[in-house]
Amino acid sequence: MIEKVTSLKGEIQIPGDKSISHRGIMLGSIAEGITELNGFLDGADCRSTISCFQKLGIAIQKEADHVVIHGKGLHGLTAPTEVLDTGNSGTTTRIISGILCAQNFTSHINGDASIQKRPMKRIIRPLQDMGACIYSDLGNDCAPITIKGTALHPIHYSSPVASAQVKSAILLAGLFTEGETSVTEPILSRNHTELMINGFGGEVTSIGTCATIKGLTDLHGQKIAIPGDISSAAYFIVAGLLCKNAELLIKNVNTNPTRAGILKVVKRMGGNMKLLNERIISGEPVADILVQTSNLHGITIDKELIPSLIDEVPVIAVLASQAEGQTVIKDAAELKVKESNRIDTVCENLCAMGCHITPTEDGMIIEGNQTLHGTRIQTHLDHRIAMAFAIAGLIAEGETTFDHPECIEISYPTFFETIEKIQNK
Ligand code: S3P
Repeated sequence: MIEKVTSLKGEIQIPGDKSISHRGIMLGSIAEGITELNGFLDGADCRSTISCFQKLGIAIQKEADHVVIHGKGLHGLTAPTEVLDTGNSGTTTRIISGILCAQNFTSHINGDASIQKRPMKRIIRPLQDMGACIYSDLGNDCAPITIKGTALHPIHYSSPVASAQVKSAILLAGLFTEGETSVTEPILSRNHTELMINGFGGEVTSIGTCATIKGLTDLHGQKIAIPGDISSAAYFIVAGLLCKNAELLIKNVNTNPTRAGILKVVKRMGGNMKLLNERIISGEPVADILVQTSNLHGITIDKELIPSLIDEVPVIAVLASQAEGQTVIKDAAELKVKESNRIDTVCENLCAMGCHITPTEDGMIIEGNQTLHGTRIQTHLDHRIAMAFAIAGLIAEGETTFDHPECIEISYPTFFETIEKIQNK
């Protein structure tokens, strides 16, 4: 249960970046030798990735946020004897498919009820173009998926969506293929795969929105410090801006520009926010973020920014409900195919809290200066909905409760404990 706070103060350490944690396991598994990850996100999604690679014959030890992977090189994975269970993780499902298409064995992939509804044609099509034998078992372009590994050929793929999962699946399939494979996106999506492959000694070149990988380049185990996840920091950035008497220092946050759209939004809305101690760690930009109670104004968020803040839209909608004037979020139809249909689930819950909000085909229109009222949040088992509305609960009148608060386990298991530490009621 969450209640309105009178102040919010403190210093927060954010758990490791989810996208980088997944990629660390995947690249560590197909690299030669030992990879060590510090600051690994110990959430359910990343544990799904570990368990899949263990089933593919890779020894992986995890103790809290420290992970050691005994990589076996590009050709070291072995046939799984069980279905690879990707749980709730779209990232695991899509990116691992790119790797599995090029193996000399058959794999079966499946996940939870949400995964079984999420679109997989976006990876199946281009991987089939590369010669892959990958299909949806039920013929509905969703998981369960069967992959009969085979030799692939390179392609130049022009992706209709800005999706790092699609891009990463193709680049990783390309890694197992002689020649150059490239992906061009409408807008650049998060580039952790490209940065990390190069950090492991691979060869990816990026020009504008086109990434090209040179195939059959050996990767070498690395020691990687994973920074805090800006998608998790986003909840506390918004809390610090919205709550009365708030000052939060959010430490060690990944500020990679392909992820940091929320920082641009906060600046444009007039938020009191400073980036301190900016540095580069394991090839990724990192900063500490200081936020304070702010007066904000509504803005329009569209195409250019959407890929760099797609996971933050639920909490940005909460932020917008407190700004002066209207905020319009558009060009964000991708929200419909996340862990829940986030256009619907954000609008349903903000409306239930008393906010005027209108869903649109590709986003939403949020009226500002709204008084929110505590209610029972329908999470739809979507971690980002639960956390965004917990932040709304900190400024709402009355009590805010959740049908499934445990769904935060996916990306931020210590979320409610962190709120406990910084709040004054
Ligand atoms: C992710 C990419 C994004 C994002 C997801 C994580 C990744 O999805 O929404 O939470 O780690 O590659 P899309 O690739 O579908 O845009």
